[in-house]
Amino acid sequence: MTHNSIELTGISKSYGELTALGKIDLTIKRNEILTLLGPSGCGKTTLMRIIAGFETPTTGKILIDGKDSTTLAPERRPVNMVFQKYALFPHLDVFDNVAFGLRLKKTPKDEIKREVTKALELVQLESYKNRWISELSGGQAQRVALARALVNRPAVLLLDEPLAALDLKIRHHMLNEIKRIHEETSTTFVYVTHDQDEAMILSDRVVLLNKGGIEQVGGPEDMYWSPRTLFAAKFFGDTNIVNGVYHQNGKGSGHVQLPFGRYDYASKSNIGTGPVHVSIRPETLSITPAQGQPSDGEFVGKVKDTSFIGNRVIYRVAVADGTLDLKCQQLPTPGTHTLSPGTQVMLACKPESFVVLPA
Ligand SMILES: Nc1ncnc2c1ncn2[C@@H]1O[C@H](COP(=O)(O)OP(=O)(O)OP(=O)(O)O)[C@@H](O)[C@H]1O
Ligand SMILES: [Mg+2]
Repeated sequence: MTHNSIELTGISKSYGELTALGKIDLTIKRNEILTLLGPSGCGKTTLMRIIAGFETPTTGKILIDGKDSTTLAPERRPVNMVFQKYALFPHLDVFDNVAFGLRLKKTPKDEIKREVTKALELVQLESYKNRWISELSGGQAQRVALARALVNRPAVLLLDEPLAALDLKIRHHMLNEIKRIHEETSTTFVYVTHDQDEAMILSDRVVLLNKGGIEQVGGPEDMYWSPRTLFAAKFFGDTNIVNGVYHQNGKGSGHVQLPFGRYDYASKSNIGTGPVHVSIRPETLSITPAQGQPSDGEFVGKVKDTSFIGNRVIYRVAVADGTLDLKCQQLPTPGTHTLSPGTQVMLACKPESFVVLPA
């Protein structure tokens, strides 16, 4: 037994002139939850369809459980897919929807009953087995789609934006359900989303795709705090991108000049002296009403607008004589008031949390 579930090497896909996928090299580990994250049209569904076997890659090779499966028919792969638009059969009830695949495989009746019951228990819909699909909520229908895929006991479950049609609260609930089901089934999950929050909540690892290529692969925290490209910094979480100049003094030491100040910054990747983009996460900026002169590392600004969101307050603050807006985020505490627009404030940043990327 190999350790990896799926190995993709040099996978590309073209439709005539259009290159949907560039050249993808990716290893999916056994039993992990991996998400494919990226904007609309970046090739997420195409990659899933190639893994499932609904699409043949233009170039490249797929190993599933160590076996070359590049041209293997979908039904012969140990893979099941839950589609972007869940396709349940409206003329069948919940039980028969879930039993469908097993019936195709001519599974004995009592085994079908046992397996379907187990799958419905897993998604906590055992008492809904005789309902029609039209009598279910969106979240319940999605759970039926999940049960229908899980009943086949795939080694790999592919989920293509399965929660896109649901509202935020149900989506968060379903994400936790999916995590629980993953833990209970020891199956490899590949999950597609264009929503970075979903990716962060769910993933062991995230594959960030951009225009048919892999931009970065990593754990959610790694992706959040150490994006390697401007695209990754902007796509994964909210951030301020500030243009500046990096001055390298010696090996691994230097400073970055920003419109509102100069900060010592030790570049780990020896980027050399030159123009840079600096990613500054809003929650790493502190904001207080201005009193007296700015001390070291502080700079002045003026609140432009505020959004109180309950568990956080987001400020947009004009800095550097109004030439630049920075977004800051604070944890509100009871009894304190949100600063109103027009307030003069003092900001401070933590250069150790900067991500400095060559421009
Ligand atoms: N059968 C096809 N024929 C021609 N072009 C296609 C086909 N399928 C996908 N494409 C194109 O390939 C690119 C990638 O499509 P894909 O469906 O993989 O994107 P996606 O990342 O899943 O997007 P979304 O988030 O909108 O679902 C798009 O430009 C799309 O128009
Ligand atoms: Mg898609």
